[in-house]
Amino acid sequence: AGRALAQTSTFAFTPVDIATGFDLTVPEGYQWKPLVRWGDALWSDASDAYSPETGVSVDMSDKVFGENTDGMETFVVDGHTLLAINSEYANPEINLPTSSEGVPANADEVRMMKNIQGVTVLEVADTGNGFEIVVDSPYNRRITHETQMTMDGPAAGSDLAKTNADPEGMSPKGTMNNCGSGKTLWGTYLTCEENFNGYFGTTGTMPQDEGYNRYGIGDEGRYAYEKHDARFDLSQEPNEPNRHGWVTEINPADRESTPVKHTALGRFKHENAEMVQANDGRIVVYMGDDERGEFIYKFVSKGTWADGQPTDGLLSDGTLFVAKFNDDQTGAWLPLTPETTGMDMAEMLVFARMAGSKVGATTMDRPEWIAANPLRCEAYCALTNNTNRGVKPNAGGDETPVDGVNPREVNNYGQIVRWQPTGEDHGAETFSWDLFVMAGNPDAAEGLYRGSQNVTSGNMFNSPDGMAFDTKGMLWIQTDGDDSNEGEYVGMGNNQMLVGNPETGEIARFLTAPNGAEVTGLTWSPDQKVAFVGIQHPGGSWPDGEGKPRSAVIAVWREDGATIG
Ligand code: FEO
Ligand code: CA
Ligand code: CA
Ligand code: CA
Repeated sequence: AGRALAQTSTFAFTPVDIATGFDLTVPEGYQWKPLVRWGDALWSDASDAYSPETGVSVDMSDKVFGENTDGMETFVVDGHTLLAINSEYANPEINLPTSSEGVPANADEVRMMKNIQGVTVLEVADTGNGFEIVVDSPYNRRITHETQMTMDGPAAGSDLAKTNADPEGMSPKGTMNNCGSGKTLWGTYLTCEENFNGYFGTTGTMPQDEGYNRYGIGDEGRYAYEKHDARFDLSQEPNEPNRHGWVTEINPADRESTPVKHTALGRFKHENAEMVQANDGRIVVYMGDDERGEFIYKFVSKGTWADGQPTDGLLSDGTLFVAKFNDDQTGAWLPLTPETTGMDMAEMLVFARMAGSKVGATTMDRPEWIAANPLRCEAYCALTNNTNRGVKPNAGGDETPVDGVNPREVNNYGQIVRWQPTGEDHGAETFSWDLFVMAGNPDAAEGLYRGSQNVTSGNMFNSPDGMAFDTKGMLWIQTDGDDSNEGEYVGMGNNQMLVGNPETGEIARFLTAPNGAEVTGLTWSPDQKVAFVGIQHPGGSWPDGEGKPRSAVIAVWREDGATIG
């Protein structure tokens, strides 16, 4: 089957074989290079910030590119090409002295952890060789766990958002564990807070809170922030977690601008935010909640928008919907309102998961990125895997039965669902759906676990995660799965980036990552000739060849200068 597909390939490259080592591979005729790595200086006074032996110095840690690159978007501002890139999390084992044993031992080490996560805005220049970062650009900016932000929408200023440090409940600090991203139609960056729960803990009595259970907030944080900063100590600031788990908007054109957390889009473990427009001009944002048994959402603005009009209120006033997938391949967007949920607006948005349960949303196999096809009215969501069906991730979650859209009992491979809104209108409240691909292993598994017919020995993969469409309407798929190349994963090799044709179903492998890494984050140069691809948590000593492994954004381009793919 692999050969038959290859003969009719719509892609202008020869697919790459699987890899198992610590190198990165791209097809023949393509080149790649690291564009920016964890620890690279954004300003020349930080050029010594990174050392291969000790990593990033505490004092320079807010002047370098953050660790564990994830969602990114390209912007053109007054002729300058800017990238906004988030840094999902930090590897304590790589960043901290070995004496710390993986947990920050003092306030300085906490400060460093806070600084190397968040968001980086940086300028890049076209050198004819895959671009270079512009050190000292006036656009370069770091946003960390301490950056002052504001909130809007129904939960802003509510009692649930108030803390001792911010009694108005309007001025949160920092954006944490950002995973995917999005780009507004008006040219700003959306960054999406995912596993924010892991940053909180307590030094005293743990407050009792139904929301803590559903959102996985426990008494010990991953980075020991709570021991050195009262903001993260639940016994002192029980509402601080309610100020995280939002979609945050950042204007990359203005480094003095204040990021805004949009509470109208709901609080959950956000993957990305894919913005499109309804036929009547309302703004639609598709969003996944990446946890076993959680939901897919969409926000629809109250107001409409056309290019050049003001954007005020578009992301602060509207309706949040949650998806119901029926087994007959129809579906509906169920509105979350005080009437449908019995919750007031602020409570309903802060605890969107509980609101979704009340209206009977469909539990999903970990919704990761959502991507909308630019050439036809449909959207795709990567359901990455679910290897623990039936085990509730968090108290208060729903049962997670096998169903049409999540058809496998033990789902170690994942699938990509797509939906076509009724009447070719993203504003519609019903849709039809099908599975674009059910990942699987034609060499090692049978039946449902073999995978759909567009999965072959030559393109197999597991755990689709990042996704983005190019301007030609091809769907790029990035994986974050098991790279052991053993057992049910044999023949899949390292994590990878593939491209799929929505019309034919054909899928071809374009890139393989170093062992240990996931591939996440994809954007292009303005002329589409260079792809920027994120390589997160690599193993070995990638990409330097010696010293610590460094997460990095790479540039990939065709040697003949044509567009990618
Ligand atoms: Fe950070 Fe759901 O991936
Ligand atoms: Ca992801
Ligand atoms: Ca993932
Ligand atoms: Ca990740």
